Amino acid sequence: MTSESFNGSSVPNHVAIIMDGNGRWAKQRGLPRIKGHENGAESVRAIIKACRNAGVKYLTLYAFSIENWVRPRAEITALMGLLKRFLTNEEHELHENKVRLRVTGQLADLPKAVQAGLRNVMGRTKDYQEGQLILALSYGGRREIAHAVREIARRVKQGSIDPEDVDEDLVSANLYLPDVPDPDLLIRTSGEMRLSNFLLWQVSYSELYVTDVLWPDFREEQFKEALAEYAHRNRRYGDIE
Ligand code: IPE
Ligand code: IPE
Ligand code: MG
Repeated sequence: MTSESFNGSSVPNHVAIIMDGNGRWAKQRGLPRIKGHENGAESVRAIIKACRNAGVKYLTLYAFSIENWVRPRAEITALMGLLKRFLTNEEHELHENKVRLRVTGQLADLPKAVQAGLRNVMGRTKDYQEGQLILALSYGGRREIAHAVREIARRVKQGSIDPEDVDEDLVSANLYLPDVPDPDLLIRTSGEMRLSNFLLWQVSYSELYVTDVLWPDFREEQFKEALAEYAHRNRRYGDIE
């Protein structure tokens, strides 16, 4: 049997990306870190388009982790500014391609103006069905799991469910975006072999792809290489062959 017929589609339905290496990209060129982030934003644009071309329906981008708040104030401010600019510049693309924007993470942690911009675009794109662009912002995987546990504990306390009802589906149903399928492919740029607290529950059976390419250099060509490798993976899910 071919891997395609045995393991479902050779194109991932959901790709999640840890966009790492902006700082190193800038440093290699003797530029300030923000220049790396600016060029990284160009990669974001390119990969959104590449997903559309390839037929990837869900794209989750790790844009700012809950741990990233420890970075210098000026870098955080610059990143938030870039995010706002990105929203303004990219909204028409979302409309044109009927892509819904969503956020996973603690939206309320972000500066008010950024929150407002995100809420506006999310509201205006909420009915689109062609694809979803999910930005992970002030996101932490453990924080998300703790959120799910808290919701479930509340319902147990109310008496609407029993502790025996708690199973994997119930945990999944209480995550931030319960209707989003788990990622099929998780990409990390810049070579680091770690998850950095990203989608811990959801990547349980995702295929992992780590490349040394730095995020600002990761464009459609590099993305296609990742998809090509994914197409050859044999997703066994514990079964044989
Ligand atoms: C990823 O690039 C962008 C964010 C985490 C916001 P980095 O800024 O982490 O780049 P490096 O890892 O320092 O090269
Ligand atoms: C992970 O990158 C977070 C994002 C890409 C937003 P980091 O650069 O923050 O991760 P570490 O510090 O190398 O684990
Ligand atoms: Mg980094």
